Amino acid sequence: MPTTVGIETTGDDAGIEHFIRGLPKTDLHIHLEGSIEPELMLTLADRNGISLPWSSTAALRSAYHFEDLQSFLDLYFAGCRVLVHERDFYDVTLAYLERAVVDGVIRAELFIGPQSFTERGVSISTLISGVLTAMDDATRKHGISIGLLISAHRHRSEADALALLDSILPWSNRILGVGLGGAEAGNPPSKFERFFHAARKKGFHTTVHAGEEGPAAYVREAIELLQVDRIDHGITCRDDPALVEDLAAMAIPLTVCPLSNLKLKVVQSLETHPLKTLLDAGLRVTINSDDPPYFGGYVSENLIACRQALGLSVSDIVQLARNGFSSAFISQDEADAGIGSIDAYLDEHVAFS
Ligand code: ADE
Ligand code: ZN
Repeated sequence: MPTTVGIETTGDDAGIEHFIRGLPKTDLHIHLEGSIEPELMLTLADRNGISLPWSSTAALRSAYHFEDLQSFLDLYFAGCRVLVHERDFYDVTLAYLERAVVDGVIRAELFIGPQSFTERGVSISTLISGVLTAMDDATRKHGISIGLLISAHRHRSEADALALLDSILPWSNRILGVGLGGAEAGNPPSKFERFFHAARKKGFHTTVHAGEEGPAAYVREAIELLQVDRIDHGITCRDDPALVEDLAAMAIPLTVCPLSNLKLKVVQSLETHPLKTLLDAGLRVTINSDDPPYFGGYVSENLIACRQALGLSVSDIVQLARNGFSSAFISQDEADAGIGSIDAYLDEHVAFS
């Protein structure tokens, strides 16, 4: 174990950025539908004869300005239309995973929300086969460890979510867990109590988007009513000190996505993001990409931006990376190996340890 952390670095920005990119990391909160880079979006639209309101990557990129979560979701759901065939799901999944590998991610847990596709007649088997084949190929080629999470849409009914749960059972040995995403305000976790109970009974891990735009009370509901293993975002817990204490005591991970929070105006600025406060309060905070092209960065860019805005120390950055492995839905052995790979990396980068 290297002496590491606790020691502040005075290294230059370029050196620290290089250190962050090479640090073994996780990405536990990334939506495949939200990972389509503009180039691939246009290629898929062309391949499937789908007309989009944007004819160039520049036009697409310039549309990536959002007022709130809903204005992003409108674009995100429009983009889902380009995914039709098994090969499309394969291409999108592999493209994300290859970028993640370059970004230093060695464990990724990928969300996909099948309801956007099945409502248009794409079969669940088309979607899952494309994603799983790409996951297998990426692991074989690059050694990256990957899990699949199925996300239900919270603006739809709980009956729809339960039907989705039934539809994925044939792949239950390849699906790690279930989650809940989409428009948060007015769709509290309590709306999905039976869905999460049923998912846990089937042996799935559970995670829920809560406390992104919604109040701290939604995070409380998620842990008490849904009894989830993890919270996606969760940052509005900062408004309830007792909840912060409970999350720390229960070691419930938060998969925080700072650039997403900034772009969706959940925080006014990265400088006022509660990430560092929550980390210092002992919460198991992790850093993740959410929908990287829409928000301007993968995990490393999130860490780099937060380092600058919040003055994160190397110890903070290493702690966030370690938290990723202890929060992942993996065995203790794999978590220990991930943390061991961080320690080995620190041994090789003595300037930062
Ligand atoms: N689906 C994709 N990104 C999301 C986000 N940030 N919040 C809720 N649902 C999402
Ligand atoms: Zn998300």
